[in-house]
Amino acid sequence: MIYQIMLPGKIRFGVGSLDTLGDEATKLAAKQVLIVTDPGVYQAGLADSVKERLSKAKLSVDIFSEAEPEPTFPRLNAAAEQFGKESYDLLVGVGGGSSMDTAKGLSILLAHGGKGQDYGGVDKVPGSGIPIFTLPTTAGTGSEVTKIAIFGDPEKGRKLGIVSPYLFARLALVDPTLTYRCPPKVTAASGIDALTHAIECYTGNKANTFSDALAVEAIRLIVGNLRTAVKNGSDKEARNRMSEGALIAGIAFGNSGVAAVHALAYPLGSRFHVPHGVANGLLLPYVMECNLSGNLPKYATVAQMLGVEMEGLSLQEAAQKGVEAAKALADDIGIPLHLRDLGVPKEALEEMAVATMDVTRLLGNNPKELTLDDVRRIWQNAW
Ligand SMILES: [Fe+2]
Repeated sequence: MIYQIMLPGKIRFGVGSLDTLGDEATKLAAKQVLIVTDPGVYQAGLADSVKERLSKAKLSVDIFSEAEPEPTFPRLNAAAEQFGKESYDLLVGVGGGSSMDTAKGLSILLAHGGKGQDYGGVDKVPGSGIPIFTLPTTAGTGSEVTKIAIFGDPEKGRKLGIVSPYLFARLALVDPTLTYRCPPKVTAASGIDALTHAIECYTGNKANTFSDALAVEAIRLIVGNLRTAVKNGSDKEARNRMSEGALIAGIAFGNSGVAAVHALAYPLGSRFHVPHGVANGLLLPYVMECNLSGNLPKYATVAQMLGVEMEGLSLQEAAQKGVEAAKALADDIGIPLHLRDLGVPKEALEEMAVATMDVTRLLGNNPKELTLDDVRRIWQNAW
């Protein structure tokens, strides 16, 4: 099997690593910087603490604090228009996936013009954008180390990824202290998103020795620390390990991809505005259950890492217990277990099943080839 590994220019991880930001920007000879963040992160003062480091290094810094959760192409295009006249030479995405993805999108639009939709799909970006630094404030998305940015396309009622090596950050600066004040609900949703990344890329068709090593360690870190990070957010060790787990999961799935859980989460997010992590956490056990036969040994290993006592169990029994363990983890951290609890009407399931089948990029990596009937069954079970 031939595989390749692609990474951001540099990854720096650790408590206090934020203090190196000014030096890193200076090394790039950056002069004019735009921080891209969302209103919540801005109000929490995190963008200001990032700005302070850059200002100390004598850089001119503006802040765009209107990156929306689950960002859309129209809002991205409007932001590009707003900042198009400036000549930024560095964009710093500070926040969760939405802020970092918006920074990635802006990097391309400010350099090449056009609309975000023009670059949707794989390898549609013609060349380098404005350099990006990514600073995650949640432990989850992995966007800091991926070459993907996801946007809603309201006209077409779907989510679409811009996928290009030109979206890689020059520097992914992962300082866990930026996650210390992340509220429990967001900690839960983003943490189970990271777990989904690790499980999907570990069991997916594109899995390889390199990404497996990362995915296994990510699952271990996340399963061992997610409950504590949600229930006791001041536990720094749990926070640090979650940041590390999400980062490692990001590198793993950034290279070996995610699969059907994310394929189902896309229409749930774009039609019912369910936060990405909540959608994944809810759907994960139902998709695992359907997928077991596609890669029984790996699902049994996942079960073991989720805490299932393996002694005396067949692979099938162990893998099946893994489904229950994933559900128990989601339940423990407050993720709803049924779509009806989110107000999704039963009548919407057929439309969602059909929309799922369009997400061919992700379904192609699923360990089991899913028919429309399989997908219908998953939606019904999850309801
Ligand atoms: Fe995700």
